[in-house]
Amino acid sequence: MIYEVIISTMNEDGSSHVAPMGVSQKADFVVLKPFKPSKTLDNILTQKTAVMNIVTDVRVFAGVVTGRSNFNLVALPCDKGFFLKDALSYLTLSLAEIHDDDIRSTLYMNKVNVTHLSSFKGFNRAQAAIIEASVLMSRLDLLSQNKIKQEIKYLEIAISKTAGKKEIQAWEWLMEKYENYCKENKKKIKLLVSIRSIEEVKVVNGLNIDIIDLKEPKNGPIGMLDFIDIKKIVLALRDNNFCGKVSTTFELNDGNLSGADIAKIENLGSVGLDYIKVGVSADGNTWANLTKFTESLNKIKNQVLRNKLILVLMITDKHSFKFIRNISPSMVRKFSGIMIDTLNKESGSIFDIVNVTELNIIKKFTLENNIDFGIAGSLDVSHTKLINQLQPNWVGYRGGVCLKKRSGPLSRARLENLIDSFY
Ligand SMILES: Cc1cc2nc3c(=O)[nH]c(=O)nc-3n(C[C@H](O)[C@H](O)[C@H](O)COP(=O)(O)O)c2cc1C
Repeated sequence: MIYEVIISTMNEDGSSHVAPMGVSQKADFVVLKPFKPSKTLDNILTQKTAVMNIVTDVRVFAGVVTGRSNFNLVALPCDKGFFLKDALSYLTLSLAEIHDDDIRSTLYMNKVNVTHLSSFKGFNRAQAAIIEASVLMSRLDLLSQNKIKQEIKYLEIAISKTAGKKEIQAWEWLMEKYENYCKENKKKIKLLVSIRSIEEVKVVNGLNIDIIDLKEPKNGPIGMLDFIDIKKIVLALRDNNFCGKVSTTFELNDGNLSGADIAKIENLGSVGLDYIKVGVSADGNTWANLTKFTESLNKIKNQVLRNKLILVLMITDKHSFKFIRNISPSMVRKFSGIMIDTLNKESGSIFDIVNVTELNIIKKFTLENNIDFGIAGSLDVSHTKLINQLQPNWVGYRGGVCLKKRSGPLSRARLENLIDSFY
């Protein structure tokens, strides 16, 4: 059995050091297992003594983890160390034996003296929650962000129901640390995930996805969904309090917009979509198709549409890069972003067709024209390192977050794994 206590030790200069530790009992020994490097370990090896404080003022746990050090300590006579004034009891310990390995030491400590200062009043759930949250906060870089969020949500219940002033203060310190950590580690690349149905709205519920894209992968690389389905999914997402952006794609074909096409685009603009992606293959006809399309844009009544349009250039091979480079600044400025995607989903990821250097050239071109740059195309968690190197504004996923094939069901576990890979 492990008990969470506060170990106080003396530094070489005579000052105090305080650390939460889990301790156990073996025969008559108190056993400590500090991970290396550890100031507590160094001090015990030098001084051969430590004080084990049994506390219910959990501010000490939260305080240490959040970088506080102004604890109410009392010095023991003859340089024997320090104890916490508000401890229920404290034990002075002396080092008996040490078992060492590269990761952590196991210290066997003799109990020298026990002093009782006040009585134990009973268990308090908020105090236990603070200890759990302190462990979480001391392991922020090791645990998954989703796990941390879920646990905080759960621990908050005990805090809201049973905390006193000390526990509330400890909780505030811990949450302040967590908020700062999130701010510093906030991912800059926005994640776009394509979903195709109301069922998949449930799969993405509560996940940290920036843009939900609506498409039916079975209908090809652009995968236009029926207008009525788009409307239903947008409503379901908002009902589920999804507060990111929502997009869908419109297939451009030869760029000539018929009256029906224009009506379709205008309709899409009216159902609460934030972005309408216009998909066009990057080939010898791209320039001509885009010229026709940008001219047709003038026919679209709703001017707001212009801030919503994203140009998706579907590439097939190395030549596609050349065609993209031919696009003029005046043409791209009609869009609020450019996304490079692959046309043939069976021929590897976008990185198998164009390399980071080539993508960087396109990124530079888009940013110079004050529009955003995104990529997609058979991407999965294995590409996160390359994506972090490239730093696009958005990155899009479908097949890589599905079970089996691109048209298979969306996998929540794969999505969580992917999101985690960006922190
Ligand atoms: C409840 C709780 C229990 C902990 N138990 C241990 C432990 O058994 N061993 C350890 O090395 N660190 C443990 N930690 C983390 C240490 O307190 C923390 O890393 C501290 O800075 C130790 O390093 P130091 O000896 O250099 O001060 C625990 C933290 C908390 C909040």
